[in-house]
Amino acid sequence: MITEQAPGKLYIAGEYAVVEKTNPAVVVAIDEFVRVRVQESDTTGIIHSKQYAQDSVHWTRKGNQLVVDNRDNPFHYILSAIDFTERYVSENGGKLKVYNLIVNSELDSADGKKYGLGSSAAVTVATVKALLRFYGFDLVKDVVFKLAAIAHLTVQGNGSLGDVAASVYGGWLAYCSFDRDWLRSQLEVSRLTDLVNAEWPGLKIQSLEPVEGLELVIGWTQKPASTSQLVEKTDEEKVDNQALYDRFVADSRACVEQIIHGFETKNIELIMCQIRHNRELLKQLSKFSTVPIEIPRLTSLIDIAEKYHGAAKTSGAGNGDCGIVLANEATDVAAMKAEWRENGILPLDLHVHQVD
Ligand code: PMV
Ligand code: MG
Repeated sequence: MITEQAPGKLYIAGEYAVVEKTNPAVVVAIDEFVRVRVQESDTTGIIHSKQYAQDSVHWTRKGNQLVVDNRDNPFHYILSAIDFTERYVSENGGKLKVYNLIVNSELDSADGKKYGLGSSAAVTVATVKALLRFYGFDLVKDVVFKLAAIAHLTVQGNGSLGDVAASVYGGWLAYCSFDRDWLRSQLEVSRLTDLVNAEWPGLKIQSLEPVEGLELVIGWTQKPASTSQLVEKTDEEKVDNQALYDRFVADSRACVEQIIHGFETKNIELIMCQIRHNRELLKQLSKFSTVPIEIPRLTSLIDIAEKYHGAAKTSGAGNGDCGIVLANEATDVAAMKAEWRENGILPLDLHVHQVD
């Protein structure tokens, strides 16, 4: 029997702009995991997850068609990860087998609520890792990332894949996305293994060393949000606001580059200042695109953090999920958390996770 795990993630800065290729974001892996167990079976296999037992599906109407939205359904990420990993295994001489695959996620609460900690990316990564090992392959991070990125993109259809990078490489990362149109066209014509071994235009993954004295604190709004739908809406809106959008992307790039520079020079003040600046940039994006990012509960999370001298912002697509705070020795973290609780924000006891 094989068990593999993959951590969840949080965006620290650069959200939305990172969806444009070669634009940077900072992401971290956090120490809660999705675990996948694979065990050979005889003639039929099962794929099971306690947390993902579903009795409802989301759908929208397109004319006469009822369209089911699978992008928030973890089973589709699992099936896609199996599909691409097995193609890779076959191309490399592996003999496919029948197995049971059991998923256990710490990234979803017992009643099925999503915290927004990247469970779909983590379940994709954990499935790729477990299957590669089940078939006797060594785990090479670049191979795991590329297979998981292809599997994830095939289901979600949009997004930067920064969550997949965080889950594979761990720790603090500066991440620039690759050209996804290039990848889609290559998938039609290339052997999967050749594509996995190729250099992907635009992709850049750089580890950042944690800065001593800079603490990450996470608050959960208790409201789940759908990344794929929010990214889709901003993508539609940018057409009518191209100049403002281009400005946002350029400003975000400059801001995140400063944050990366802050990590490289261990300049806590610079990092915190640019986190606050990134919050303002995301508020501008939200205004001209009319996509709700910093909803009132996130504003309350941020205002409370700022009262205690933390540098705070929304994390990821916003509209719910989590907010993040970068705190230094001036921040009274205990008092901040107590005030969060009084205001319906749940502090999550999570830490940055380094992957071996
Ligand atoms: O809400 P999250 O944590 O899934 O983050 C989404 C971040 C975006 O930049 C908005 C989208 C993406 O795929 O990078
Ligand atoms: Mg989110």
